[in-house]
Amino acid sequence: MEIVIQPTPEAASRIAAHIIANLVREKPNCVLGLATGGTPLLLYRELARMHREDNLDFSRVTTFNLDEYVGLAPEHPHSYHTFMEHNLFRYINISPAQTHIPNGVAKDMREEGTRYEAEIAAAGGIDLQVLGIGTDGHIGFNEKGSSLASRTRLKTLTAQTREDNARFFNRPEDVPLHVITMGVGTIMDTRQILLLAFGERKARVMAATVEGPITAMNPASILQMHPVAKALIDEPAATQLAHADYYRWVYDHKPDWQRFVKQT
Ligand code: PGA
Repeated sequence: MEIVIQPTPEAASRIAAHIIANLVREKPNCVLGLATGGTPLLLYRELARMHREDNLDFSRVTTFNLDEYVGLAPEHPHSYHTFMEHNLFRYINISPAQTHIPNGVAKDMREEGTRYEAEIAAAGGIDLQVLGIGTDGHIGFNEKGSSLASRTRLKTLTAQTREDNARFFNRPEDVPLHVITMGVGTIMDTRQILLLAFGERKARVMAATVEGPITAMNPASILQMHPVAKALIDEPAATQLAHADYYRWVYDHKPDWQRFVKQT
C-alpha cells in the first residue's frame, strides 16, 4: 500500500479528485466505486467543482456504491441513495441509469447480492474504488470477522459502527442493524483503490491497517494484498504510524512521472 500523508483533509481530497479526474479523462466510460460517510464529502465537492469549472465530463461514467442500509427505501432521507444524490450526483452530469447502489428493501437479500455482483461484472468490473474506513477497521460495511473472500451480502453492524453513524440519524436507535455491502472479495477485485482517512480517531485503525497483521479481525488490513492501493490520510490520522517518516520521504522523492498532481 502506498501511504500519502497530507497536512489537511482538503489536500488529501484534492489528490484523490485529481486521480479520479485523470482516470475519467483517460477512460471516459470508466467504472467508479463510491463510498458514503463523512470522509468522501470533500472529494465529492472537488469533483463537482471540476465538473462545473473544468468541464470534467461524467456522461459516460458508471458508478457502484459500496453499501446500503437494509430497510431504508431509496427515497428515505437517511438512505445512501439519498446521500449520493445530495452530495454528488445532483452536481455532476450522470444519469440515474448509470449509478448503482444495492437495494436495501429488496425482498431477498441473497438474490440482491448476486444481482449486484452480476451488474458489476456486466459493467466490466470496477476501475477505481473509493474507500473510507471504520474506526473498527471495516471497509464497505465488512465488519470484523468478515470473510476476506466475501461477496455482496447482508451484514450486521457492530455496536461501534452504529454509535459512529448515529450522528447521521435523529436518534441512535434509528441506525439500522443490518446492511447490504460489497464483500471484501468484491473490493479486492477492483483495479485501483483510494482509501481516505482523516482525523485522530482514525489513527489507531490506520496503524493496524498499514503496519499490522492481515486479519479478518481488521478487514481493511487485506488492502496490503491489493496491487494498486493508496491510502490518502491527513496528519492526525498518521500519528500512530511507526514508519510515517519513511512514507513522507518516499512521497517527497517520487519521480515526476509518478506524481498524481504536477508540482508547481
Ligand atoms: P466516516 O465513515 O467517513 O463517516 O468516518 C467511514 C466508514 O465507516 O467507512
